Amino acid sequence: MSDGLENVVAAETVLSEVDGQAGRLIIRGRSLDDLAGRTRYEEAVHLLFGGFFSDLPPDLTRPLAEARVAVFAEVQALDARLLALEPIEAVRALIARLPDGDDLQTALRLVAAPAVFSAAVVRARRGDRPVPPDADLGHAADILRMLNGRAPSAAQAAALDTYLVTVCDHGLNASTFAARVTASTRAGLTSAVLSGISALKGPLHGGAPGPVIEMLDGIGAPENARAWIEAALARGDRLMGFGHRVYRVRDPRANALKAAVRRLSDASGQAPGRLAFAEAVETAALAILRERKPDRALDTNVEFYTALLLEALDFPPAAFTCVFGVGRVAGWIAHAREQLAGGRLIRPQSRYVGPAPTPLRAA
Ligand code: ACO
Repeated sequence: MSDGLENVVAAETVLSEVDGQAGRLIIRGRSLDDLAGRTRYEEAVHLLFGGFFSDLPPDLTRPLAEARVAVFAEVQALDARLLALEPIEAVRALIARLPDGDDLQTALRLVAAPAVFSAAVVRARRGDRPVPPDADLGHAADILRMLNGRAPSAAQAAALDTYLVTVCDHGLNASTFAARVTASTRAGLTSAVLSGISALKGPLHGGAPGPVIEMLDGIGAPENARAWIEAALARGDRLMGFGHRVYRVRDPRANALKAAVRRLSDASGQAPGRLAFAEAVETAALAILRERKPDRALDTNVEFYTALLLEALDFPPAAFTCVFGVGRVAGWIAHAREQLAGGRLIRPQSRYVGPAPTPLRAA
């Protein structure tokens, strides 16, 4: 048995390959370096969905915009009880109201839903009314408009596109595996997406970037980094944004997102102070992890620069996991369709290690 299914191949996929030794990510025959910063999210969704829906139109920009408009009606269900939950839990509850199905319309509404609901939840937590979608905008630009109530700059929309494309799919990560298990029972795409979100929200997976900001704020200045990190490790804490099950080198998504932070900062004309500080913390963290865990190759993962990028785009840290879901949902759906098309029910075995049955005493 492999603890945590490490190194177990549990599916064949045409969707993405994670090469943990080379630090390379391929999404449907394209390298991440060629996609990130050069592709809109709608194009990435099209790339992932190709071959999995017979009625896929050549351009998803308008159909996805119309799906955003359609799901906005569900935002009226956002009440005080849902707003008392964590943002990702409130978004999950709203998605759970959508009907199950396996068709393209269901799929597009599920891609639209985390975007529309995340913006509405963030605004409602600030006491602001939700902003309805604008069907004339691209997905990333409309998300920022629904979040802030004003049109974003081209650089901001491009930065969010880069993020969403960078995280749209990543092999058989925990949330995608959960989505495939659910899809394999033929429960429907909504159920598969809900399984994906539920697995994503944990701090070892998609819940890490919020705590990265807490770490940066806790450290405060580069000269405090070593002492803060050593104290955290001495307590037995893990450093959020570092380490990965598959990558034994730097996660290539970290570079794609760091470049996006730099482009955004250059476009705004602001000094990249926060980025320089984060780089100093990253350098200290990597040095200490190498000292402490020389046998385990621990490097920067996607979540470290996710935190910087989403912070620069004015998402509150409490909603970072929601934004991860906004991007990853396309991967979950494509994997669910792939599972349905060729896969059997996923039903592994367990080995019983409990006590032998005790005979019942006669009364
Ligand atoms: N900080 C400190 N120590 C770490 C870290 C870390 N971030 N990551 C792993 N380690 C240590 C573990 O304590 C363990 O040490 P030990 O052998 O002395 O007990 C060793 O490295 C191996 O760790 P595992 O838990 O076996 O590695 P696994 O492959 O299960 O974990 C994971 C991968 C969960 C991502 C882990 O590195 C981690 O917890 N990182 C921090 C959370 C994080 O950033 N998550 C986002 C990952 S990217 C994503 O999901 C999108």
